[in-house]
Amino acid sequence: MLLIGDSQNKGLSEGIAKVLSVPLSYPEITVFPDSEQRVRIEAEVSGKTVYLLKSIVPPVDSSVMQLSFLVDALIKNGANRVIGIIPYMPYMRADHMFRIGEGVPLEVVIDLFQDMGMSQIVIVDPHSIKIPELFSIPVHNISALPLFAKKIKELEKDKNNITIVSPDMGGLRRLQQLDELLGGVNQVIINKDRDYSSGEISVAALKGKIQGTCFIIDDIISTGKTIVQAIDALKKEGAKQVYVLGTHGVLSGDAPTLLQESKAENVFVTDSVPVSSKKNFPKLEILSIASLIASEFK
Ligand code: R5P
Repeated sequence: MLLIGDSQNKGLSEGIAKVLSVPLSYPEITVFPDSEQRVRIEAEVSGKTVYLLKSIVPPVDSSVMQLSFLVDALIKNGANRVIGIIPYMPYMRADHMFRIGEGVPLEVVIDLFQDMGMSQIVIVDPHSIKIPELFSIPVHNISALPLFAKKIKELEKDKNNITIVSPDMGGLRRLQQLDELLGGVNQVIINKDRDYSSGEISVAALKGKIQGTCFIIDDIISTGKTIVQAIDALKKEGAKQVYVLGTHGVLSGDAPTLLQESKAENVFVTDSVPVSSKKNFPKLEILSIASLIASEFK
């Protein structure tokens, strides 16, 4: 057994290899001037079960192509089984036709993943719980919620002073799971509207009463607009302290500035997506999911 790590996410690669006690090797990646890529596996993989970690980073489509080249190289060099660890599943929000004229990108990506030759895949906090079932190969879903529950308990010891918040209706299940981990706490749900052509977000309504410290839970923080709208709505309703916990810190465009300048105390994301030094900001703290992923194989 060995782990082929992701040199763009060395912290997570090293963390998983350490907990699993398997050797770690990085592939050689060459990007040509026309943006085509060549990958080469330097480790001896013949006859072995290989864990392959690939964090999906922008440009997302290049990451997906790189993943497919890596799986191909592993199989052509004799790997017995390739287990893909793809913490951030790309296109997971594009799971249905939002408007007439669209297709369903997630279905296309699932077909691509299945055809690559991986024997199983591990993903973290998919946008919808149904995603693993859409694959015809085994897909294991790992949740970052235990990490978040631990962090919330560290920040607020009195259960009666905890309010967990979903910034949209899609996060209800996540809220219920977190509630179970915290042993029953106060909940607030925000009803968000998004204009699908402009991407603009607005808060339509807030359900529930704020009590103590607010902890907003989300799967993805991309532009940061959902979160900032939620923070503002909570503050308007009298919240004193607001913390943000999001599994995938995609942090596109101005998200780091928006979040740093927001009224949140801190923003926690996991290392499912690497955060470059350019995207890092003082209020951000990164929690590692290495042990949660590795424990799936122990
Ligand atoms: C939406 O349904 C998701 O759960 C996230 O709330 C959303 O994708 C976050 O996107 P953004 O940061 O761009 O508002």
